[in-house]
Amino acid sequence: MSLPTVRLPARLETALRSGHPWVYRTHWPDGITLETGSWVRVEAGSAAAVGLFDADGPIAVRLFDADTVPTDAWWDAAIDRAIARREPLADAGHDAYRLLFGEGDGIPGLVVDRYGRHAVLQVHSEALRPILPRVAKRIRRKLKLRGVVERLKGGLHAWAGEVPPPEVTVREHGLTFLVNMHEGQKTGLFLDHREQRQWVRTHAAGKRVLNLFSYAGGFSVYALAGGATEVVSVDVARPALRDAERNVALNDLHAEQHRTIQADVFTSLGRLAEAEGRFDLVICDPPSLAKSKRQRDRAVGAYGRLHEGLGALVKPGGELLTASCTTQVTPEAFERAALAGLRHSGRQAAVLQRRGHALDHPVRKSFPEGRYLKSLWLQLDADQASK
Ligand SMILES: C[S@@+](CC[C@H](N)C(=O)[O-])C[C@H]1O[C@@H](n2cnc3c(N)ncnc32)[C@H](O)[C@@H]1O
Repeated sequence: MSLPTVRLPARLETALRSGHPWVYRTHWPDGITLETGSWVRVEAGSAAAVGLFDADGPIAVRLFDADTVPTDAWWDAAIDRAIARREPLADAGHDAYRLLFGEGDGIPGLVVDRYGRHAVLQVHSEALRPILPRVAKRIRRKLKLRGVVERLKGGLHAWAGEVPPPEVTVREHGLTFLVNMHEGQKTGLFLDHREQRQWVRTHAAGKRVLNLFSYAGGFSVYALAGGATEVVSVDVARPALRDAERNVALNDLHAEQHRTIQADVFTSLGRLAEAEGRFDLVICDPPSLAKSKRQRDRAVGAYGRLHEGLGALVKPGGELLTASCTTQVTPEAFERAALAGLRHSGRQAAVLQRRGHALDHPVRKSFPEGRYLKSLWLQLDADQASK
């Protein structure tokens, strides 16, 4: 098939050659219009790549690791590679994980999460829509799934097989969690913190634990399973807290050691500290705080204020597992903001570990933007008030 060829500014040659998978709209030459979903060859200097054009949004072309329009065999091989990469997770008994992580797996713009016998697609560009039936069919066949679906405005659409029931259960590190693919946040669960949750389990014995932005109590269930004496889950969403209680019950854990509080964490840390006192271990996993680069500084400021409030909630010598899923905020900027916020509250913190993604969220060297999740495990010194 002959492809339209578009010349980009020569300064993009290095990025193109390094395998960066995006051509931003701001680099797209004026006056050249293609239909969304058209394959195009782009050239810069002596580098070239092939990708899918999108007429909307900040990314004009998503580039694939292919010299020409990907064939059926190319798609099958890319999907099979992504599945093979997750085999260690499946072998370890996990049946909820990110099956395909877009750019990190060489299929930019497409994310697929597996929940037991179903998978949910997230499509970040309309240009990808024509390939969805083929991708869904391959995934379903390879993993013997009941259905591969996408969440659309009107409900779940099955691209292959059947729509899942309103609720299913999945296994993660031997624990059981409810998943509602129809209405849950994200595609159902926050899969990216699986290893951090397990870390909490191994550090929770005998501790009083506060789980801020708890969602359906993932960290809370792990903390109780690890022997925490008391766990408090806080979230603004009441349905999430109801599910947290149900997940605790589902795992036969001591429900009397778990409490939920519905609150806006950003505005209620002071009240929370007054009412609840201090905790041995605090987990803080807020939603993304910036949608675009323009909001980056505001997000960094919000992380600073949040950590200033957290200072009053951690016991002297206690630990804080704090996370950021804001792509626009770098790991360095997040760490600076977190430590500065804690310092303002009179707390010094030692960084015990910097944690990132698990193997189901691969990050390519050419695409550092893929490293959106960063977690810090901190230990806080005694503060003025507790001396
Ligand atoms: C990244 S998710 C947390 C995922 C969770 N740690 C897990 O492992 O499943 C962020 C959560 O923050 C909640 N949230 C958003 N804004 C909030 C606010 N202002 N106060 C409290 N919770 C909020 C959302 O309802 C969501 O459950």
